[in-house]
Amino acid sequence: KLKIATIGGGSSYTPEFIEGIIKRYDELPVDELWLVDIDEGLRKLEIIGALSRRMVSKANLPIKIFTTTDRREALKDADFVTTQLRVGGLNARAKDESIPLSHGFIGQETNGAGGLFKGLRTIPVILGIAEEMAELCPEAWLINFTNPVGMVTEALARYSKHRRFVGLCNVPIGIERGIADMLNIDHDRIRIDFAGLNHLVYGFNVFIDNENKTKEVFEKYMEGSISVNMKNIEPMAWDKEFLRALNLIPCPYHKYYYKTVEMLKNELEQFQKGITRATEVMKTERELFKIYEDPGVDTKPVELEKRGGAYYSDAACNLISSIHNDKGDLQVVDTINNGAIKDFADEYTLEMTCRITRSGLKPYKFIDEFPMTVKGLIHEIKAFEILGAEAAAEGNISKAVLAMILNPLIADDSAGKRLFYDMLEANRQYLPRF
Ligand code: NAD
Ligand code: G6P
Ligand code: MN
Ligand code: MN
Repeated sequence: KLKIATIGGGSSYTPEFIEGIIKRYDELPVDELWLVDIDEGLRKLEIIGALSRRMVSKANLPIKIFTTTDRREALKDADFVTTQLRVGGLNARAKDESIPLSHGFIGQETNGAGGLFKGLRTIPVILGIAEEMAELCPEAWLINFTNPVGMVTEALARYSKHRRFVGLCNVPIGIERGIADMLNIDHDRIRIDFAGLNHLVYGFNVFIDNENKTKEVFEKYMEGSISVNMKNIEPMAWDKEFLRALNLIPCPYHKYYYKTVEMLKNELEQFQKGITRATEVMKTERELFKIYEDPGVDTKPVELEKRGGAYYSDAACNLISSIHNDKGDLQVVDTINNGAIKDFADEYTLEMTCRITRSGLKPYKFIDEFPMTVKGLIHEIKAFEILGAEAAAEGNISKAVLAMILNPLIADDSAGKRLFYDMLEANRQYLPRF
């Protein structure tokens, strides 16, 4: 019996995941999918559950869909557990974005101050899930999408007894597909070697039909004839000279670090009109659930494309299938370095191209160390992730304050501290350890 449990099942992304499972039924014959949520999410969960059942029955597949708030029942004997939850919901996200802006700093749900507080709220919950998995489904893989994926993976690596965990993001697959589209080739023909951290990952080598085409593709990319973005990030062109000198493919989230001034200016302009990404997503979510509720709807609606998580389901289902079928192919995941990058501690986690088998994920070594040009930023953010992970798990305020101050988007002790305590106040209810 192949059983998957999805925690945060009421997410509006779930129909995309269902679509991915339906598409792959031949290689991944799921018997049971358990969608788990909490009381506050129960209405959403039931709407999603009913839509999922309509989708499965339209495809004529014997996949059983369960909805529950009993997490332990869902975890019992599961083979895969995916997590896509949001502690505090979109209201908490709105604060993660708006409070930093009101202090004059970037407001983003996974980077800077917002990322830190999302991490502090989320990590205890994910560690709790991992602990239950060690007891109820010790062989199962935990596939974590819950942001901030980098900090959460770091927490799992440091504190979880359950060792079968992996972090996953749609950014690498999104960049691959974006470039394939621009080159007008099928996405199956392209593969990019990626390394870095979550939402701070760089593309190094590009292969088309297994041939190294890095030079040609970089040339087009750097001319600006290829641009890749995500729906949740303001599309802003890179400086060509900068790209050429860097000679790597940055990810869209790098704009918060390499274009901080412009990104902040843009966010502040929106913020003055009362708009943040959270308020936009709240609108999209209301639209989506109106559609999901309609008993005549039995497929994933196009409106879901307004969300930033495009291809999230392909990333997830490909990963699950490769583990389940022991494929040994290459995919980009967040996992423990384990000696792959020499000047990066063995126990640190990174986001990197890995070989995916039933027994685990093995970084695929295509570089020995990070280039000097990006190493500094990667290490700064790694320190931020580690401090955030430790602060959340230990309930340690000093580590959390230090994480805030050291983050390059803040980098100021007194302003960082003021921002920290403002956000702490706003998050009290979700931070029982502080
Ligand atoms: P959402 O606000 O719809 O939340 C999803 C569900 O989680 C809600 O139904 C909510 O009730 C539930 N929830 C909250 N606390 C819970 C708990 N303790 N246990 C179980 N369920 C709980 O969020 P969303 O916009 O659908 O995003 C979900 C998560 O996925 C977020 O953390 C987001 O950052 C992440 N995400 C990650 C990627 C990626 O690249 N890794 C892509 C898309 C979304
Ligand atoms: C991208 C990122 C995710 C993030 C999402 C936000 O897909 O990889 O980690 O959660 O964007 O999208 P949203 O529609 O919620 O702003
Ligand atoms: Mn992501
Ligand atoms: Mn691919």
